[in-house]
Amino acid sequence: MAAKGLLRFLVAFLLLVGCLGRPEPPSPAPSSAPRTVDGITAIYNFGDSISDTGNFIREGAVGMMERTGGLPYGSAIGGATGRCSDGYLMIDFLAKDLGLPLLSPYLDKGADFTHGVNFAVTGATALDTASLAKMGVNMAHTNSSLGVQLQRFKDFMASTTKSSTEMREKLASSLVMVGEIGGNDYNYAFATNRPQVNNSGLYNIGHMLTGAVESLVLVPQVVNSITSAAKELLDMGATRVVIPGNFPLGCVPSYLSTVNEQDKASYDGNGCLIGLNLFAQMHNVLLQQGIRELRRMYPSATIAYADYFTAYVQMLRSASTMGFNATSAFKACCGAGGGAYNVDMDRMCGATGTTVCARPEEYLSWDGVHLTQHSYKVMAELLYHRGLASPAPVKFPRQ
Ligand SMILES: *[C@@H]1O[C@H](CO)[C@@H](O)[C@H](O)[C@H]1NC(C)=O
Ligand SMILES: *[C@@H]1O[C@H](CO)[C@@H](O)[C@H](O)[C@H]1NC(C)=O
Ligand SMILES: *[C@@H]1O[C@H](CO)[C@@H](O)[C@H](O)[C@H]1NC(C)=O
Repeated sequence: MAAKGLLRFLVAFLLLVGCLGRPEPPSPAPSSAPRTVDGITAIYNFGDSISDTGNFIREGAVGMMERTGGLPYGSAIGGATGRCSDGYLMIDFLAKDLGLPLLSPYLDKGADFTHGVNFAVTGATALDTASLAKMGVNMAHTNSSLGVQLQRFKDFMASTTKSSTEMREKLASSLVMVGEIGGNDYNYAFATNRPQVNNSGLYNIGHMLTGAVESLVLVPQVVNSITSAAKELLDMGATRVVIPGNFPLGCVPSYLSTVNEQDKASYDGNGCLIGLNLFAQMHNVLLQQGIRELRRMYPSATIAYADYFTAYVQMLRSASTMGFNATSAFKACCGAGGGAYNVDMDRMCGATGTTVCARPEEYLSWDGVHLTQHSYKVMAELLYHRGLASPAPVKFPRQ
């Protein structure tokens, strides 16, 4: 019995497998005179495809997200920019709400970085790729891990400020976003040990166990890399830091379709895989412990936890009242294969044979991995205007 229960958990769990993807360069930024909100004049962002606004496509975009530099990515905003969605991302809505221009990607050498820089790269990991490779995890499509992004930040600051005092002053009126990042470390660990379609029995059980254990072992290391990066930024003078947790992975179409679990007991009341959501929460609980520690060390800084998990679940549960079509809550708008999830990991959005839904705004998921612009707008609202990023990193005027 115990063995069967464990197996079921692992099967459910296994799904973490991967998807990464991300799109490219941004577009129109509101260029009106900056109306500063709560004293914020710049945003520095670190992360992966959830917030990349064009770095990955400038690196050459290889791997499963190679199509994010072309349509239908960006179809809601006049063309692909490297953003992994039909339109804008949470970071864009946040910048707009702050009255700032959209964040330019660091690798866009000609861009204006007066109001911040986006270092996020699609596919990026929290741990560096060499450390992951030593642990047998070899899937990365970019070497621009959190550590590499942090070094780019230091290079940027060294070249744009004359002294550490000037840098501290700049950071004192900045918002620093450390993540979401780490999701890909787990994706790659699971994907490396993905069961083979034509194998079964002990061979695949061994594979799954390896993937599950490797992913579990990664959690404290991933969390430590995130909190260590945040600590360095606080030491350099950051006063407002936002650290997002992981999404409820068990609610994401790509994972749901890969797991293809038949047992109803593996799903919760929302239709999400219990095992995968537990895994995501394990990361989130450890991350919040690390954040509490940082708050003790830097009592005068605001260090917010952005609860992506709760925001996503709230959006899922209230989908129909938020303008989504509840029948599409688990289906990718852009994809192939139909069925409950419309995800085929061998034919990602943009590939031959994939289709795009007629009304993306009715879908939570854009390509099975990433969200639609509508979802990102709802998430940003829940996080930054309705308290799910706490303590509030920015005080918006009452509307
Ligand atoms: C990452 O770095 C390694 C070692 O320098 C290199 O072999 C590999 O091609 C790089 N991968 C990517 C995606 O740039
Ligand atoms: C799996 O086995 C079936 C039947 O033997 C075969 O047709 C198919 O090509 C195999 N698939 C893979 C991925 O090897
Ligand atoms: C939601 O989608 C289903 C399936 O495409 C459709 O039949 C239904 O009319 C849609 N509901 C709304 C409110 O648009």
